Amino acid sequence: MSKKIIIAIDGPAGSGKSTAAKNLAKKLGFTYLDTGAMYRAITFLALRSGVSDDKEKIIEIAKSSNISLKTENGITRVFSNDEELTDFIRTPEVNSKVSEVSAIPDVRSEMVKIQKKIGDEGNVVAEGRDVTTVVYPNADIKIFLTASLEERARRRFKEFQSSNQSITFEEVKANLEKRDRIDSGREVSPLRKADDAIEFDNTGLTPEEDLEHLYKIILEVLRNIDK
Ligand code: DC
Repeated sequence: MSKKIIIAIDGPAGSGKSTAAKNLAKKLGFTYLDTGAMYRAITFLALRSGVSDDKEKIIEIAKSSNISLKTENGITRVFSNDEELTDFIRTPEVNSKVSEVSAIPDVRSEMVKIQKKIGDEGNVVAEGRDVTTVVYPNADIKIFLTASLEERARRRFKEFQSSNQSITFEEVKANLEKRDRIDSGREVSPLRKADDAIEFDNTGLTPEEDLEHLYKIILEVLRNIDK
């Protein structure tokens, strides 16, 4: 295949987009691009500098932080100006602030610049809000992954249980429902299916079955691109 391919995956929280994107990238030998990790890194840097409530300062950080990603064995490592931030971006503090930081338009435009550059290198599986609509509107393949609320809540609940966090299934489900509402209703890059995205509902499928289905869909599209 001579053409440089971009596969973009979006979908609601808990739809399994990270797992699917990682698995697909590995199977295809493509670069995995976790765009959420970039917004998490900016959020961490803003929190560390004590400026997480100051939009202008956060924008300055986004402009000067020189975020880069390296994925090895399915794990994405995040760097800012050569300092590794990987271990600091998935904390409860970052979780609770990242939605606000990622809603700042100037922060988004800085991150989108970096994401477009990575896309220019080609053969990328990118995952995250707005990759199918804003970052790569001309992606070769766009996938919108979904699953029922009940199923997505079950998956999240399992993750919380395995990391010993005490939260009930009903709480997890209510949180997801709320996040769906906020994500779909927000003004900047809301969660929405691109008109030309292939929607795939993976309710009831294991990650392996999900990968098999998506891989088949992708091969079919790639075959047609190659013709
Ligand atoms: O996928 P994640 O949980 O690591 O994403 C972290 C946050 O960043 C989440 O609030 C969604 C947001 N995000 C975004 O606004 N745009 C993206 N392209 C990726 C993530």
